[in-house]
Amino acid sequence: MARILGVGIATLDIINTVDGFPAEDSEVRALAQRICRGGNATNTLAVLSQLGHACAWGGVLADEPDARRILDDLARHRIDTSACRQEAQGKVPASYIVLNRRNGSRTIIHYRDLPEYSFADFSRIDLSGFGWLHFEGRAVDETRRMLERARAEAPHTPCSVEIEKQRDAIENLFPLADVLLFSRNYARSCGIEDAGAFLRHARLLAPHADLVCAWGDKGAYGLTQDGTAHHSLAFPPATVVDTLGAGDTFNAGIIHARLNGYTWEHALRFACELAGKKCGRVGFDIHAPTTLTPTLSRLAGEGV
Ligand code: ADP
Ligand code: FRU
Repeated sequence: MARILGVGIATLDIINTVDGFPAEDSEVRALAQRICRGGNATNTLAVLSQLGHACAWGGVLADEPDARRILDDLARHRIDTSACRQEAQGKVPASYIVLNRRNGSRTIIHYRDLPEYSFADFSRIDLSGFGWLHFEGRAVDETRRMLERARAEAPHTPCSVEIEKQRDAIENLFPLADVLLFSRNYARSCGIEDAGAFLRHARLLAPHADLVCAWGDKGAYGLTQDGTAHHSLAFPPATVVDTLGAGDTFNAGIIHARLNGYTWEHALRFACELAGKKCGRVGFDIHAPTTLTPTLSRLAGEGV
């Protein structure tokens, strides 16, 4: 068990499950609706907490009723929110998500207008005692300063950085991380369709980090500091029902595996197994039984 700090977002996720992705300008009825806490860093922490770690979150909320739902869920996962900043004005970030029950795909429309977590917020956190620091690669300049502080004050504490989206100067974060967790989406935004080739390209900008790239149902790839390339196949569940946060779950698996001294080969396999298990369930309760696909015939005969 380790103390883990995650810096990034918490969101309100409004998830509509539909029977097939709707056509533009159509009107469809959702099979189900779920409103819950989401956000990459807090999703990752929710999984790490179920794996037995003591987690703390650094991020921003607004002082409004939807923040209660987020805080309740973080409390349910025993995630320490004392480093969180609460803005007096504004709304929590929200994601409007279409979850396709036929293949588990998730399409996200995200809206936020809250300011980002800042270096000033982060500088109030006592870093001693954490066994791992995990950052979402966003607000690049602030995150760079956070990583620089972590490097100076906690030089032996591993730092992982999730690189999910193309953002201005995001490569400036690469040399400051021990583990870079890239998304397929980011690799593609660099114009590279092959995970192995992408990691070799990323190596030029991050000569000292272990590099990982998850690739959906193709599993995940690694290129470690010693120059070794790794791959794990995916572990598809009997039915893929919910891929929302598969990458966040995968990241939790990598952090847990490395904290426990697994080799990189084993770490990739463990993270893919964990993420595969998640894809067979709705939400992030990794110990919950597999979700059975509800019969779509419920919709038959129903008008919209
Ligand atoms: P993201 O949530 O960032 O889009 P990915 O789609 O790359 O992340 O998925 C992360 C990990 O989740 C993959 O490496 C894989 O192990 C697992 N995964 C994702 N989709 C599937 C799937 N359809 N079947 C099995 N495993 C999956
Ligand atoms: C899943 C997720 C959702 C959230 C969105 C934010 O990875 O974290 O929970 O709404 O992405 O980009």
